[in-house]
Amino acid sequence: MQQISARLKAEGKTIGLVPTMGFLHAGHLSLVEKSKKKSDVTVVSIFINPTQFAINEDLNKYPRDIERDKKFLRKLNVDYVFIPEASEIYQENYQTYVEVEKITKILEGEFRPTHFKGVTSIVSILFNSVMPNYAFFGQKDAQQAAVIKQMVKDLKYNVSIFISPIVREADGLAMSSRNVYLSAAERHDALVLSRSLKLAENLVLSGERNTGIIISKMNDMINSVKNSKLDYIKVIDSDNFTLTDRLIKNKNYYVLIACRIGSTRLIDNTLLKIR
Ligand code: PAF
Repeated sequence: MQQISARLKAEGKTIGLVPTMGFLHAGHLSLVEKSKKKSDVTVVSIFINPTQFAINEDLNKYPRDIERDKKFLRKLNVDYVFIPEASEIYQENYQTYVEVEKITKILEGEFRPTHFKGVTSIVSILFNSVMPNYAFFGQKDAQQAAVIKQMVKDLKYNVSIFISPIVREADGLAMSSRNVYLSAAERHDALVLSRSLKLAENLVLSGERNTGIIISKMNDMINSVKNSKLDYIKVIDSDNFTLTDRLIKNKNYYVLIACRIGSTRLIDNTLLKIR
């Protein structure tokens, strides 16, 4: 991969990387489209990264279908698909990790304390392998995007990061490879996540600025679904990922949710622009 990228760069071409764990959906494909517009050459990586899963998580059952993924990518005329083996990425005696300190400790970090260390390490390895000019991530993993931006800034990676909006199913469910875990009834229950985010948006439109009130109303809505178990609802300043009590004019905030529906853990969010 490095040799291919070095050759492309010597030819003066720009490289866009879309890092994925496969089982692609329309959200991933929107990132590919964006990369294709911005870059001369698009590389999609498919790698289910073991170091970002804790031992009690779903690494072994994470959905995979490389042939289906390749078909999608061929249709989009993607230039390269990079599918390394775990043994190539984490060779024997592997011992180096990249860790962003502060923003990885809150929200997802409280529930998945080792997760972001795995993410930043693999993204760092992918950057060193593909040597992209641009890399594309989704807003659904808003905290992951913020963590990666922090890493790029701190470690001076010469890569521009682009974040694309969440792609949703027609009924509002945020696209996620993990949605396949949901039974029909659970999938219906899972709509409460996007409904509660809509509620937050509507409260803000009607003038509510107290995040405690917004969260409490969202909480009531989510708790009314029997099969749900909330990990958190938080409102944070989108610039610095700090929690906030009051929404202030001319600032942007994320409302972020993590919630279990049955045994499936889902995350979702919305960006509030206060004007
Ligand atoms: O968002 C994902 O799919 C993964 O966390 C990523 C960025 C591909 C790293 O494994």
